[in-house]
Amino acid sequence: MIRQEGVLIKVPASTANLGPGFDTLGMALNLYSWIEMKPADSTVFRLHGENLEGLPTDKSNLVYQVAQTVFAEAGVTLPELEISMKSDIPLTRGLGSSASAIVGALFAANLLIGEPLSQAKLFDMATALEKHPDNVGASLFGGIITAVWDGTHADVLRIEPPADLEVLVAIPDFQLSTSKAREALPKQISLQDAVYNVSHSSLLTAALTSGRLDLIPVAMRDRLHQPYRASLVPGMARILEEATAHGALGAALSGAGPTLLCLTDRRKGAEDQLEGFLLEVLGEQGITAQTMRLKPCTLGAVALTMESEGSFLDYIQA
Ligand code: HSE
Repeated sequence: MIRQEGVLIKVPASTANLGPGFDTLGMALNLYSWIEMKPADSTVFRLHGENLEGLPTDKSNLVYQVAQTVFAEAGVTLPELEISMKSDIPLTRGLGSSASAIVGALFAANLLIGEPLSQAKLFDMATALEKHPDNVGASLFGGIITAVWDGTHADVLRIEPPADLEVLVAIPDFQLSTSKAREALPKQISLQDAVYNVSHSSLLTAALTSGRLDLIPVAMRDRLHQPYRASLVPGMARILEEATAHGALGAALSGAGPTLLCLTDRRKGAEDQLEGFLLEVLGEQGITAQTMRLKPCTLGAVALTMESEGSFLDYIQA
């Protein structure tokens, strides 16, 4: 059953790894992308906002391509689409912009044809496209997720974020591609470092699950990827080392960077001090950055209703 009137969906941004949980842990954030998808006589794109500037407006567009994989999987032919998009998620900064586009396209396309594919199937398809499950899992399911990927299938467990957990990010004014940040990683690591990360990631997962924010300062430490990526984001090593002394529960590179993420405890009110520290350290390295105070987003991709007469931008601003 194809919904001729079209569908409108909202997808959260995400942060991946949370320090030690490389390619494993993800958390959805209250920063969003929206996609409207309708059957059409010929394909047309409407891209809104500076974060989508320069993206293709023909059938090579990622959202169109991903939607077609859903139709092919479901045995449906729907070659012409009208697609409207807006995104508040900065591109290529480590806040899951590509994952939100993939998840949004899969979710919208599946909804458009009456949801023949399960959420688990969409997650497998999203992970196969993104190559790791952390960002796509958070964008699809919301909250905090821990996931494993065997190359074909992803298993996931969603964790409700602790009520007092908040997030402060510093988004440097330069882009860093995930492929470049992955090329910086070694092919092999020592058993000692592997044990270090397994233990810290496990403790972090347990601490988040049980609301033990007091364990986060220790649990967020990492030896698997951040030390090797530090030279790509000048100032990062000092921020990771000293953020807790300025009120953070812990700090990490957000995904593959360059955004730096601090987890905070809402009850401590340390954001002003921490924000000053982040901007000062980056500034000393000649890096300008934008800070954002965010929260974990408990919902993943959701359908929005289009009840009245109105445009795409009317609906999403409502
Ligand atoms: N886990 C991935 C990485 C996230 O750190 O390379 C990339 O968005």
